[in-house]
Amino acid sequence: MTRIAIVTDIHHGTPSHTKRGDTALELLGQFTDWANAEKPDLVLDLGDRISDVDSQTDARLEREVAEVFSRLDAPVHHICGNHDRDHLSVADNADILGAELGHQLIDLGDWQLALWRADAKIHRDRPRVGFDLPETDLLWLSRMAQTAEKPTLVASHVPVSGHSQIGNYYFQRNASVSTYPQADRAREALAQARVPVACIAGHVHWNTVTTVDGIPHMTQQSLTESFTTAGEPARAWGMLTLGNTIHWKVLGDDPFEARLTPSHLRWTPPLAPFLPDVAAE
Ligand SMILES: [Fe+2]
Repeated sequence: MTRIAIVTDIHHGTPSHTKRGDTALELLGQFTDWANAEKPDLVLDLGDRISDVDSQTDARLEREVAEVFSRLDAPVHHICGNHDRDHLSVADNADILGAELGHQLIDLGDWQLALWRADAKIHRDRPRVGFDLPETDLLWLSRMAQTAEKPTLVASHVPVSGHSQIGNYYFQRNASVSTYPQADRAREALAQARVPVACIAGHVHWNTVTTVDGIPHMTQQSLTESFTTAGEPARAWGMLTLGNTIHWKVLGDDPFEARLTPSHLRWTPPLAPFLPDVAAE
């Protein structure tokens, strides 16, 4: 069994909308103490470590977050979120964290971890503000899925399940920044795998499980989000245990727990519309 402690969307910085960034460093410190007591095999940070301001401020905020992460006993793997990329490059983040931030496949024994560090830049200079998944990132995911020989956990900042954003404070009315416009192709890439696959992401600031093609997609609540916790930070962090099944428990004030059995079986390609003449209209 592999135990992975997960924290996401730390959003250290000035509070913005419902994000309680003013509490981030203290809560990250509590997460660190908890993780050191729990002794997971590894720690995952799914991105959005800060709330962006400008390049100089953001570099300082990222360094303050990195300083707290450095207290962890277990190895930590970071993924960049959109706020880590508004004013900083991937190389800037890698420099501050002292870590490589390219795609990575890590052998965990019975499972493997695919750190799918797809581009998380939100483009604001286009007719429709949003993400744009580079083809090279899609190809890495596709090749990883095609060649996977053991159950695989895929971690990213941006979720690709296509799950409903109804009720989501940020994204119900901003769907173009909830996922990639190419998310359907990412799902098709994942469905090529002949092994059990599960996905975990941050970004959408709520706890969800959505199954697509027999693949459970999880999203974990932000450490400091307050839209589900009446103005107080959710203090959310999780422990994911990979074995014959997946056990995922999110602690804090927005708790969530699930046991999942991802399947290597995939759905048959879907039927044509039941009413062909309606479809032809
Ligand atoms: Fe994000």
